[in-house]
Amino acid sequence: MYEDLNNKVAVITGGSKGIGTAISKRFGEEHMNVIVNYNSDVAGATAAVDEIKRAGGHGVAVQANVGTETGVQALIDAAVTNFGTLDVWVNNAGMENQHATHELMLADWEKVINVNLTGVFLGSKAALKYFVDHGKPGNIINMSSVHEQIPWPTFAHYAASKGGVKLFTETIAMEYAARNIRVNSIGPGAINTPINAQKFADPEQLANTTKMVPMQKIGEPSEVAAAAAWLASNQSSYVTGITLFVDGGMTLYPAFQGGQG
Ligand code: BGC
Repeated sequence: MYEDLNNKVAVITGGSKGIGTAISKRFGEEHMNVIVNYNSDVAGATAAVDEIKRAGGHGVAVQANVGTETGVQALIDAAVTNFGTLDVWVNNAGMENQHATHELMLADWEKVINVNLTGVFLGSKAALKYFVDHGKPGNIINMSSVHEQIPWPTFAHYAASKGGVKLFTETIAMEYAARNIRVNSIGPGAINTPINAQKFADPEQLANTTKMVPMQKIGEPSEVAAAAAWLASNQSSYVTGITLFVDGGMTLYPAFQGGQG
């Protein structure tokens, strides 16, 4: 628990499932006030709000498409209306799908870039504007991926979006550092979430993925949420512009594990 998070106000985009729900719950345990954004999964968002309340925080579910300026503004407005201010903004909403690049449809490229990269830009822009206009310190956390660093054949649009998130994060971290607005990313590896449920239900695919993780196991959403809580808290007060990988060592070139090379 981080005392300074008590009563702080956060927006979490894509809070209705997986890592977003885990961060919602963790922020509830920190007794924060949380706007849980969802696009279509109202039941998931409502369940996340229930978790927040059970854990001792306050939560409100708000529908919005984070790929639009009106969508992210609705989330800022909801934070201010319900809880009076904004302290922490988590750009968590994301999506992926698999296509050989020579067959990747422009529409699929645009959809993934819109949610994963344009959504991060629009959410960050709205939060930055709020912090600057109110002359207050701020904290932005972007959900990136190990694939901001590791190429991922047949997921070129996804990898491109996360590579974009990396330099976007570093750039705005630098641009707003002197205003005491910190911006960091989290780079999850293979995590037990709905996005991966089908893949990890297949023992062969699960074994293939586990082989690429030096810790030899899949991560839990709560382990990613713990990184979000630390980055949101003052315990990380001198940290900005990083990607905190939560990946069991996946980014460490596991193919070299046996000393080959
Ligand atoms: C993806 C997962 C994948 C993991 C490791 C994440 O960014 O969302 O589907 O298992 O990277 O490759």
